[in-house]
Amino acid sequence: MDNPFAGASGERLARAPATALVIFGATGDLTLRKLIPALCNLAQDDYLPTPFVVVGASRREIPDEQYRQMILEGIREHSRRKIEDKIWQEFSENVFYHQVRFDNQNDYHLLKERLDNICRQKGGNLNFLYYLATSPSYFGLISENLHQAGLVESTKHGLRRTSVIVEKPFGHDLDSAKRLNLELKSSFEEKQIFRIDHYLGKETVQNILVFRFANGIFEPLWNYRYIDHIQISVAENVGIGRRGEYFDKTGIVRDIAQNHILQVLSLLCIEPPVSFTADSVRDEKVKVLKSIRRFTTPQQIETCTIRGQYIKGYINNQAVRGYTEEDGVAKNSTTETFAALRLEIDNWRWAGVPIYIRTGKRLPKRITEISVLFKRPPDILFKNLSYRGVDQNVLAIQIQPREGISLKICSKPPGPRLRAEPVVMEFNYGHSFGVPSPEAYERLLLDAMKGDATLFTRDDEIEEAWDILDPVLHHWETKDSPPLYTYEAGTWGPKEAANLLKSSGRRWRRL
Ligand code: BG6
Repeated sequence: MDNPFAGASGERLARAPATALVIFGATGDLTLRKLIPALCNLAQDDYLPTPFVVVGASRREIPDEQYRQMILEGIREHSRRKIEDKIWQEFSENVFYHQVRFDNQNDYHLLKERLDNICRQKGGNLNFLYYLATSPSYFGLISENLHQAGLVESTKHGLRRTSVIVEKPFGHDLDSAKRLNLELKSSFEEKQIFRIDHYLGKETVQNILVFRFANGIFEPLWNYRYIDHIQISVAENVGIGRRGEYFDKTGIVRDIAQNHILQVLSLLCIEPPVSFTADSVRDEKVKVLKSIRRFTTPQQIETCTIRGQYIKGYINNQAVRGYTEEDGVAKNSTTETFAALRLEIDNWRWAGVPIYIRTGKRLPKRITEISVLFKRPPDILFKNLSYRGVDQNVLAIQIQPREGISLKICSKPPGPRLRAEPVVMEFNYGHSFGVPSPEAYERLLLDAMKGDATLFTRDDEIEEAWDILDPVLHHWETKDSPPLYTYEAGTWGPKEAANLLKSSGRRWRRL
């Protein structure tokens, strides 16, 4: 198996073995906006295996040629760059469509015949990779029917590798996630299941491990002795768009915190893994998740969590509606569109270091940032001088949109007086590497074709993440739940969010 960081120094990546990618939900938003454009970009960079075939599978009956036209429109609208005509020609010749009504056994048998024919034409046993880009309610049914139709082979005796990629949301709470894991595992082995969290495919998120373990100077400081606290913010200025119905049943904690934020947090806080193989990295991530202190009493939840919902306001000087006026949202909805939590990791490295996370829709801008705030130096040398103040050193890892890392240090400004002022040292991806970062789905699709699960979440990781947040979500649903504060669209969430940090003299970083 490839090292997930191969290619970082420019060496050629090993090619994935011949693959047929079968996408369930072939006409859906995700497929047309993200998956197909990602595959075309991989084709343009010559990363796809040979042979490589895409089979779109959905309930409607659509001729191959019409499906190709449909995805071409998606590519034109959503690809991060223009795809050359020659590349599209070669790619589209290997795109097919097959009608599969998800509950119709016979359709799966016909799919098997079609795939067998494709393999014969291509002269070999292609691996089968199934992408379930459907509503999660179909995950169990589709995998069971694939299994019944003989389309899933065991990892020990099979002729080919067969695996499945499942999209989020993975469950609604701990119980439903456990049930889903059981359902999937009655048809596939754990090592055949690739659960997507697209944050893990982002270059800047993968760089957390390189940054931490390839630089000798930071690791010695990466613990409770030097770090005062950590903040992780995932802010979006968009609202919920056309996903009102989904979001109203979900809320921001399930949508962003349970998956993207806890994944980022676990990478940021893991111990050095034995190697960069899937299980070594994921074993360490699970240890972090297990060590996050659980919320066991309502008081704890009330002092460590804040939730909010946006009301009408302005984004970039444009008036926008409040959440309960959005399409698909109940008028009396109590779904949170903002959440802030204080977490602690009860292990040797992180004892006593609070981790503040916040995420929200309709905040002033789109930004995802991890800030590591270091302890202040003793206030002895500077205390009697006239100076602006010795600020905390802050290491800020900006995941998006300005991908990069900055370090705030104190420096003496020129002049006759001894003063200290904060200045910032910066690394920016665009300037340093000069190439745009690929989309997360490009990396993830390629890894799944290679059978490398490092950047996918394992069953135990998902369950631990739900175990942390389940008590909060359940308490918020009770009648004694803490208030749901409101905030105007275009602001940084309810003002009460400041209270999480205020008592310890800290404040949210201005982003
Ligand atoms: C998705 C959420 O997982 O992530 C969306 O369902 C959110 O609500 C999106 O907008 C954010 O992704 P990104 O890559 O734009 O930060």
